[in-house]
Amino acid sequence: MADVVLSNVHKKFGTFTAVEDLNLDIQQGEFISLLGPSGCGKTTTLRMLAGLEFPTSGEIRIGDRVVNDVPPGDRDIAMVFQSYALYPHMSVGQNIAYPLKKRRVPKTERAGMVAKTAEMLQLTPLLHRKPKELSGGQQQRVALGRALVRDPKVFLLDEPLSNLDAKLRGYMRAELIELHQRLGRTMVYVTHDQLEAMTMSDRIAVMEGGKLQQFAPPQEVYRAPANRFVASFIGTPGMNIVDGSLHEDAGRWTFTAPGFSVDAGQLGPDARPGPAAMGIRPEGLTIGSGPIQGITQLVEQTGHENITVVRLEDGLRMTGRTAPDRLWRTGEPVQLSIDARQAHFFAEGPTGKRLNRDVCTMDAPGSNGTSLKEATS
Ligand SMILES: Nc1ncnc2c1ncn2[C@@H]1O[C@H](COP(=O)(O)OP(=O)(O)OP(=O)(O)O)[C@@H](O)[C@H]1O
Ligand SMILES: [Mg+2]
Repeated sequence: MADVVLSNVHKKFGTFTAVEDLNLDIQQGEFISLLGPSGCGKTTTLRMLAGLEFPTSGEIRIGDRVVNDVPPGDRDIAMVFQSYALYPHMSVGQNIAYPLKKRRVPKTERAGMVAKTAEMLQLTPLLHRKPKELSGGQQQRVALGRALVRDPKVFLLDEPLSNLDAKLRGYMRAELIELHQRLGRTMVYVTHDQLEAMTMSDRIAVMEGGKLQQFAPPQEVYRAPANRFVASFIGTPGMNIVDGSLHEDAGRWTFTAPGFSVDAGQLGPDARPGPAAMGIRPEGLTIGSGPIQGITQLVEQTGHENITVVRLEDGLRMTGRTAPDRLWRTGEPVQLSIDARQAHFFAEGPTGKRLNRDVCTMDAPGSNGTSLKEATS
């Protein structure tokens, strides 16, 4: 059952369009992320769901109600803000109890609800402390507690982990996933961190320039990105994207870039001969053999693998993953191949549509470099 639905939602600030014709259908109990670069309209969207901002046009439903005109307090939602400012003079317990107090929940009931929430977030031993006596992660849990204590229908979270260091962020990510599984509540999570979105979400809504680019499960966003923008935004290191052109011969397509060409096989109905781009993730490159000549430019050792950047003859750079036991020296000549089955093809332009017919196969890198041939021209 759809729990939160945005239909044709537009938001303008003066003449500036922050959100353009947004359509989202969020299922009950689903964890979805709004993902995109700074300024793409994530917070604006979340604030419209919360009732802190009103759509210029379009409709927002929560449960079976149109909430366009419903004030925040009556929407049965709880929001955790990026700057979660706890009340410094209140104890942890008082901070968590505050939303209940504001809603005039009787004092006798409050204690039980706070105790239950504290237990769930492992804050029970800290209930009497003041925020300044807590670590960053503990403060974060109190902020979550304040949202959880009312047991709302929908949780709205705006970059709630961004103030934490990397290790704590990883820990809190796992905690949030577990919490979501336990509560089974609908959660809308705003982040510009693609790894957070990939690891936590049932589905990811990728936004750019106020427009929805794709709304799909993480694996689909990764393996069948709707367009060049989504392809380049998801994945670290990012997808290699090369400009070139497509040619067709009897239903089979070939992509040609300066210095090499790739057999694109059969493409979807939107493919046209002419300028286009090819995308290949680092795991779709084989470094060490193949028809393309290059020179290693940078080798980053992460421990379990090496990230190797190769400069091709014409200055193009390609990033690949290699096993840690094969360490290339910088400046060393190497050969390269592209697994054509893992290649994506995009129409011209920064948000050029993906032209492949299918989801890319994700076999081990280099298991098929044979469909690549050197440019004859
Ligand atoms: N009250 C406002 N008045 C005018 N412009 C606004 C207002 N609020 C947001 N904007 C603009 O709308 C656009 C979207 O802002 P929003 O806060 O939704 O971005 P965001 O995706 O959350 O970015 P970030 O990752 O930086 O938080 C931005 O260009 C922003 O400057
Ligand atoms: Mg924001």
